[in-house]
Amino acid sequence: MTSETTHDRPGSATLIDRFGRKITYVRISVTDRCDMRCVYCMAEDMTFLPRSQILTLEEIARLARVFTELGVTKIRITGGEPLRRNNVMWLFEQLGQLSKLRELVLTTNGSRLAALAAPLRDAGVARINISLDTLRPDRFKRITRFGDLSKTLAGIDAALAAGFRRLKLNTVVLRHMNHDEVRDLARFALTRGMDISYIEEMPLGVIGDHDRAAAYVSSDEILAMLAEAFELLPSTERTGGPSRYYRVRGYHGRVGLISPHSHNFCGDCNRVRVTAEGRLLLCLGQEFSTDLRHELRAHPQDDTHLRRAIVDAMEIKPHGHDFDLHERPVIFRHMNMTGG
Ligand code: 5AD
Ligand code: SF4
Repeated sequence: MTSETTHDRPGSATLIDRFGRKITYVRISVTDRCDMRCVYCMAEDMTFLPRSQILTLEEIARLARVFTELGVTKIRITGGEPLRRNNVMWLFEQLGQLSKLRELVLTTNGSRLAALAAPLRDAGVARINISLDTLRPDRFKRITRFGDLSKTLAGIDAALAAGFRRLKLNTVVLRHMNHDEVRDLARFALTRGMDISYIEEMPLGVIGDHDRAAAYVSSDEILAMLAEAFELLPSTERTGGPSRYYRVRGYHGRVGLISPHSHNFCGDCNRVRVTAEGRLLLCLGQEFSTDLRHELRAHPQDDTHLRRAIVDAMEIKPHGHDFDLHERPVIFRHMNMTGG
């Protein structure tokens, strides 16, 4: 007889929450810092976490391994801007070697991709999502506050040249800021063989720059704008994230819509997030979390506690978010804390 439970044995447990959803996808934020200050993501003046509170790259690599031993097959590295983290290529190289990981992917603002696209490809990154809200330099400055469009465009070129299996643009659509560029951005992506996803802004953190309810553009309105220029063919394809996809006649790339307001995607949620300070967040739109940094640091040689903390956290994964653009945000975390 043994008193060992399933989750004490590496490789044998899977992560299933109270609603029967299997968690196979983890998004890990490796830094809360960024070289941009996108108006929907951050306030202009932000205080960042002190270094000691951020997980080390070794801690992140260990955590990622333990997640894969619990059945996670897809990991997305996010930030802040993940490629601004010192030595982050070391982490990608480690993650690329995890035997149970099927997909290693990245979300970035593209500002450092010109230099890093090829090494990321070599490390085993399969797909990259690049944030791009406008093709106009003046608007790019207005939306990202500190960003330089030419760097992101050079990053996109480098990623295309490096031969990733799939590249995707992520565009947050805001009325009176970029909503008139929906079709231009689609053309930009599709003519380069990339996908593009349009995202409804989520009320994460107090941003103080614009009125989110007034800037809201629904996915249905975005679809209608696209339908004027492209022939959209509904598709049942999913990439394991919240996008609903359409194929576009004449192009290889697809158009996706991420609609936290108009089409709630929580029902088939398969993912959790880890913040830069090692909090396991069970839902983007709720505060339920578990402190994994404590487990990592209290038991540096023994994964049992860490593994149990992750398995137990499945019990507090909520059914879904309830974002309301007309209320003050209930989530005080900004997106840079959470990982996009
Ligand atoms: N709502 C929706 N998307 C957001 N992002 C950042 N903040 C928000 C928000 N409040 C997206 C960015 C980027 C990714 C990191 O997260 O577009 O693609
Ligand atoms: Fe940086 Fe991305 Fe947030 Fe923009 S959305 S400030 S690029 S983390």
